[in-house]
Amino acid sequence: MSPSSIPSSPNNLRICCIGAGYVGGPTMAMIAKQCPEIHVTVVDLNQSRIDQWNSDVLPIYEPGLKEVVEQARGRNLTFSTDVEGGIRSSDMIFISVNTPTKTHGMGAGRAANLEFVEKCARRIAECSVGHKIVVEKSTLPVRTAEAVKRILKSAPNGATFDVLSNPEFLAEGTAIADLLAPDRVLIGGESASAIERLAQVYERWIPREKILTTNLWSSELSKLTANAFLAQRVSSINAISALCEATGADVDEVAKAIGTDSRIGPKFLKASVGFGGSCFQKDILNLVYLCEHFGLADVARYWEQVVVMNDYQKKRFSTNIVRTLFHTVSDKQIAIWGFAFKKDTNDTRESAAIYVCRDLLEEGARLVIYDPRVSEKQIRNDLLHVFKDQSLEVSARHRQLIEKNVTVVSDAYQASNQAHAIAVMTEWDEFKQLDMHRVHQNMQQPAFLFDGRNILPAEKLASIGFEVHGIGRSSTLPS
Ligand code: NAD
Ligand code: UGA
Repeated sequence: MSPSSIPSSPNNLRICCIGAGYVGGPTMAMIAKQCPEIHVTVVDLNQSRIDQWNSDVLPIYEPGLKEVVEQARGRNLTFSTDVEGGIRSSDMIFISVNTPTKTHGMGAGRAANLEFVEKCARRIAECSVGHKIVVEKSTLPVRTAEAVKRILKSAPNGATFDVLSNPEFLAEGTAIADLLAPDRVLIGGESASAIERLAQVYERWIPREKILTTNLWSSELSKLTANAFLAQRVSSINAISALCEATGADVDEVAKAIGTDSRIGPKFLKASVGFGGSCFQKDILNLVYLCEHFGLADVARYWEQVVVMNDYQKKRFSTNIVRTLFHTVSDKQIAIWGFAFKKDTNDTRESAAIYVCRDLLEEGARLVIYDPRVSEKQIRNDLLHVFKDQSLEVSARHRQLIEKNVTVVSDAYQASNQAHAIAVMTEWDEFKQLDMHRVHQNMQQPAFLFDGRNILPAEKLASIGFEVHGIGRSSTLPS
């Protein structure tokens, strides 16, 4: 872009983002990098998270993120716990806090918990003077902006506000590439001038035709719908994977055959042990709750099946391990390769690995877990959490299972040493580079490998001596 074609900078804009998580951190770092004249402050109540953002070891692992942060931090990007100061000194405030599924009360297990969003709106109302643009960056149920506007209207100091919806579509592991060249940026709102102000920020590096503007409710609903459609594709191909296993078809071949139809397209057709991540399940359940709320029971049931199918797929994987290992894994060692919900992230939220490990531990297996980016502390926390009962307690038996039967190691070879079976849970590239002869030699025989991501070459492994069970394909016996 030549200097004359660079859009004029949004004059003296100061941005604050509440929430320094997987979305707030990377999105704000990208805005700060691309717009050196805009001062961006990211605030969070979590002191240790902010300390990490200010250190050399960022709180989240994301390829390319460190370089982006380092370019802007100390120049026009600040991380702080001073929420009030951040709000006061900014013209535009993004709300990028977590919106997890409610665990208790009305709508428990389905509705989004909007406590943190509401707290942000109240804090903005309390601290603001003058006019501010409030931007919903968190994923929210349609019509949340109505509640946000009502709270802001009660601002004690006479401040006025425009509310915009600007949902984020980045995927973890590719966040920087997604932020640099998004398929689209979506801005929903009522005030044309507020929409324009935000569009001018993105326009600094994103072509104008990719910046879509809609009304508030379409924008809020589009985000939930996008995630529901993406997850639906994964559940659809996973449903077909079960039929492939029963019939001798190969799910990757089927995915390729259907994905070349330009009306279907090739993306999001990779069969797996089940989708994870903090959002797919949460957002579909939220959609289901909304449909029920608006009396659309049939629509709710339709979307709920996407989550039901995902649970089925995770369960099918752990059941297959137990059945194949002669109907018992008790006191058998199983190597768990990968714990993150996908490669290139340290995020484990709703990772399929958590549920597969839970099932195997219940069956008495000894698990040796390795993930290149997930800490032992995180793995143990996740396993404790998954064993919580309805009163959120973990029984002594389950605590003991985790203490005694779970070992976390620092490489894949160590994990598979003396193992009866390997379960590939995350598609980390490094698993494709391993010396599988060495792995096989150090395992108990017969050596089983369950590839929950279909990333390893089954025929080649069979020639080494493995019995390989992938997703949606016949098992490959040692040749
Ligand atoms: P996160 O849990 O990583 O981060 C949220 C942060 O908000 C936390 O650090 C928390 O301490 C902070 N916070 C909560 N309440 C606060 C308050 N009142 N004041 C200050 N800080 C507060 O969550 P995330 O993954 O970044 O997701 C944020 C939102 O973005 C969610 O609605 C999610 O659905 C959506 N989203 C997430 C992704 C993703 O890849 N993770 C992608 C698109 C959209
Ligand atoms: C997803 C969406 O892709 C983003 O657009 C969205 O912004 C984000 O959710 C969100 O709202 O949080 P993310 O969950 O980070 O992003 O990662 P995905 O690449 O979508 O993968 C989600 C899960 O589906 C992973 O467990 C992945 O392994 C699984 N998956 C994905 C498959 O099993 N098969 C596929 O073909 C694709």
